[in-house]
Parts: sequence; structure tokens; C-alpha cells
Amino acid sequence: MVDIHCHIIPEVDDGARSWDMAAEMCEIAVQDGIQHIVATPHADSHYTYNREAFAERLERLQQMAGGTPRFSLGCDFHLSHENLEDAFAHPQRYTIGNTAYLLVEFSHDFIPQQMTGALLQLIEKGLTPVITHPERNPLLHNDLRRLRQWIDDGCLVQITANSLTGYWGEQARRSARSLLEQGMVHVLATDAHDSRRRVPMLSGARDLVAQWHGEELARLLVEHNPRAIVSGEKVLTSSARASS
Ligand SMILES: [Fe+2]
Repeated sequence: MVDIHCHIIPEVDDGARSWDMAAEMCEIAVQDGIQHIVATPHADSHYTYNREAFAERLERLQQMAGGTPRFSLGCDFHLSHENLEDAFAHPQRYTIGNTAYLLVEFSHDFIPQQMTGALLQLIEKGLTPVITHPERNPLLHNDLRRLRQWIDDGCLVQITANSLTGYWGEQARRSARSLLEQGMVHVLATDAHDSRRRVPMLSGARDLVAQWHGEELARLLVEHNPRAIVSGEKVLTSSARASS
């Protein structure tokens, strides 16, 4: 499996608090069957995103981990005005590796109408925004219409694995299930932050998807699509497959 959203670089945001914890997270992920992790430090009002410094840390983590898991560098990109301006000017600064895929996180407080225009501008720049965990956002989890519009515009949707297993409560779980049923999910990811509570594990959620919608969709969401994303290839839509 491939995890495209993980706060595993130590001491750079609210993710891994030490190198030891990052090493523990690697072990948990590998045990769970995750072979490739995209390290995605926050870029938001609390945390500055420094691509070069993070790349160096990730290189060190790769040496500690040996060959498995393999790492790519990405970003948990908060959709703020300042961030967007910088991404328009330097689109490659925040993407997953050298691909055109960009994780984007909406504010939980306010989503201005202009956000649709901003997403379209990112797409015009050649990027593919991957909308992270809408099921956990109180402004989005019941707004399937707006999300559907963004998908039609060219965005992808990532939900958090432990939303399906109940960690984020009933509302998020119900929303995640309904997004799955509507074929509006392209990827499952861990959004792991540590080795105890928000851990890098995909298998529990993967098994639930397999149980509800079949093996094919489960594989699409944790293997095929995230692998396509880290390789810069095209992602398949789940809409035709989710009806089973
Ligand atoms: Fe995150």
C-alpha cells in the first residue's frame, strides 16, 4: 500500500515529535503493509514550509529506515491567501515529489466562494489538487454538491483511513461512508501524526472498504491510485466501481 498523507518528518510540525517516534512510525507502517509514504508537513499559519530543509530531513529518515518504506516529499497545504499566492508563483514547491499532485486542506471556519476560483487557477497551472479529508470538515461533510463540483473541475478527494474506523466520531464516519457510496473518494490515507493515536495504518479501513464495496475498490484506494499519484500518473475514478 501507499500512504500519500503522513506527518512523519520529526520536529517540523505537530507530527512525529522525535527521530525515535519517526522510526516507530516507519515500523508500524511497514508492519501494516505500507511500502511507500509521502511525508507531508503542514504549510499553514502555525508552520512554515521549508522544502529544502524537509528534503534533507527526509533523506536522513530514508537512511535510517533502509529501503522500506520509501519516501516522497509532499505538503499538507492549507488553502490560505498567502499560500495560494506562493503556489501560483512556485507550483512545484508544494507538490508530491516532482508530480503535479498537491494536497489541499480547507479551513474549518470559513470557505469563501472564491475558493472555487483558486482551485481552478491551480488546475490551470497544471496542478491536480487532492482535497484532504472533507469528511472531517464541518463546512464540507454535508456539502456533497460543492465537493462534486470540485471533482468535476478536476480535483481528487482523499479521506482519512481512521474516519472509517470511527476515530473522528460518528459524523465523520457517516460522511466518509457516504462519500464512498457516491463514488467520490479517490484515495485513502493515514494523515498519521504519531505512533500511538494517529498511527500510519491503512489496513483496517482498507478491509472495511473491501467488505462494503469489494476488493477492487479497496485496492484502487490504497494501492493503485496512491501509487499513480506518487508516480505522477493518472488516477482512476471510483464512481463506476462504487455501486456494487
Ligand atoms: Fe495532515
